Amino acid sequence: MHNQSTNRTQALSIAVAGATGRVGRRLISLLAQDPVTILALTRQKSTTPFPEGVATAELDFDQPSTLMKALAGVDKLFIAHGTSPQQVANEIALIDAAVETGVRHIVKLSVMGPSTPMNPFAWHSLIEAHLGQRSITSTVLRPTTFMDVLKRAGSAVASGTWAGAAGNGRVNLIDSRDVADSARIALLEEVAVGSKRAYHLTGPRNWTMPQIAEELSGLLGHEVTYAHRSPAAQHYELVANGLSPFVAEILVGLDRIFHDSVLTERTFTVEDLTGTPPRSLSAWLRENIDIFKK
Ligand SMILES: NC(=O)c1ccc[n+]([C@@H]2O[C@H](COP(=O)([O-])OP(=O)(O)OC[C@H]3O[C@@H](n4cnc5c(N)ncnc54)[C@H](OP(=O)(O)O)[C@@H]3O)[C@@H](O)[C@H]2O)c1
Repeated sequence: MHNQSTNRTQALSIAVAGATGRVGRRLISLLAQDPVTILALTRQKSTTPFPEGVATAELDFDQPSTLMKALAGVDKLFIAHGTSPQQVANEIALIDAAVETGVRHIVKLSVMGPSTPMNPFAWHSLIEAHLGQRSITSTVLRPTTFMDVLKRAGSAVASGTWAGAAGNGRVNLIDSRDVADSARIALLEEVAVGSKRAYHLTGPRNWTMPQIAEELSGLLGHEVTYAHRSPAAQHYELVANGLSPFVAEILVGLDRIFHDSVLTERTFTVEDLTGTPPRSLSAWLRENIDIFKK
């Protein structure tokens, strides 16, 4: 399937891989207001429709020819790949296909954080290293953890059993809408041909999980607490609650990062790029408060 619109010779053509994802879908709805043509790249044969005028192309990572075919005539490629053991191979295949087909600029959604064996941080390091070696203009977006991660705590908060292994460590959380807003600018801005850049994207402040519990208490009108567990106990509970060991390991790894206050940098990059300060966690909690109710 490849139903690209016809006036791509005039307008900048932007392809978005991971089009059905959290960041990809919002980015597409933002770009739909811009004078560009948009190609949504997805593995899905059918999905919730994209805004009018957005073309789609189906990707099959097991058939590399589909990647080359999808990217023909594309100027800029955004990559937002979901967390998966296939992530490194899939993103590298997309990058290589983009270089081969003459894409001018790749913007890749990566992650903020140090070199570590923990995934997905380690996967992003491998992909970034590959992108860095390829002869193509590129921008990596390195956001801190998304506020959406708290959605997983919704039912536990509602039932009064919220717990984790993050202790009293601090973390800067970002609203994923600010990531999409920044991605839009990174795709639309003029950058020097061949340049390699990285943007570190953060929210406005750091939080501990007990501080978030306190904020939720105020919004819900009853006391919310965050109980402390060891990483092993947290892993056990997550798997007992139906998560795969793969997802449990990623989440316990994140708790470890929070516990050690690893992601506490605050940057001004979101505001510099978008002209608007990053959204606050308090506002995000207010908007999403129903998730934390019984
Ligand atoms: N969550 C966080 O706190 C956080 C923080 C910083 C960075 N990040 C990074 O941001 C990226 C996630 O962005 P997002 O939230 O937009 O992603 P997402 O919603 O989880 O998924 C994005 C899309 O990736 C595509 N995809 C292709 N192959 C996949 C596979 N094998 N498994 C899962 N998805 C696959 C899917 O689109 P189709 O089905 O349409 O192909 C999916 O909708 C990750 O690389 C993550 O490491 C996340």
